[in-house]
Amino acid sequence: MKWLVKEIDECKSTFDLSRNLPAWSVVRARRQTGGRGRFNRPWIAEEGGLWASYNLPLPPEIERPWGLLPLVAGLAVLDTLRAFNIIGLRLRWPNDVLVEHAKLAGILVERPKPNLASVGIGMNVYNPVAHLTSQLKDPPARLADLVSVCPSVPQLCILLGNSLKSLFDAFSVSGFDALSPLLQSAWGDAHYVTVFTDTEQFNGYFAGVEPDGSPILQRADGSSFSVPATSVIQLRLIF
Ligand code: BTN
Repeated sequence: MKWLVKEIDECKSTFDLSRNLPAWSVVRARRQTGGRGRFNRPWIAEEGGLWASYNLPLPPEIERPWGLLPLVAGLAVLDTLRAFNIIGLRLRWPNDVLVEHAKLAGILVERPKPNLASVGIGMNVYNPVAHLTSQLKDPPARLADLVSVCPSVPQLCILLGNSLKSLFDAFSVSGFDALSPLLQSAWGDAHYVTVFTDTEQFNGYFAGVEPDGSPILQRADGSSFSVPATSVIQLRLIF
């Protein structure tokens, strides 16, 4: 299956258009006037960045923990960017793509229909970001500043779609088991983290993920425990 790409100049949010399109459609806008981020935050999307929503099928006959799609999508973006050998490239739970401490890309997954997921990817590429720093929670990074040969935004849209398709296919066939080692390596060295759920917070060294995507934390005495992936709101790096 190939992606059907719909390119438009401007919209409020690519999600508003993708929700009415079938699986394997992608909507890419040059600008968004009301882009949406996680936690109901606005997402600033000026000309030059990659702002796109990719529709994926969620067939009811395949039982998968579809709530883990944000992790799958984060790995797909990381997978695409790894080809550029960017020093300091990493994931922050569940799917922020950072370079050291600066945010290069963010992902928001919506489910407009029971059998359809829309993976919204926002990546700073050529768009100006310096003037945004004071408005953003994380300092921004952009791809054009990080690589010697930066792809065009339409090229990047295809590369991201290819990675997303191949990781989504692996997830659909084999579940999260196939992706769990990738996620562990995306985190790199052991980090001391706090995991926040709606009601609690847990501290420990990040020690990988369970087959279902739940983060595993290690206590100082060496014992470990996991926090159910679907209850994790945030995983914050302490050091
Ligand atoms: C985040 O908060 O990190 C997620 C940001 C997701 C932004 C993208 S841009 C394309 C798609 N359309 C939106 O309105 N949001 C997502």
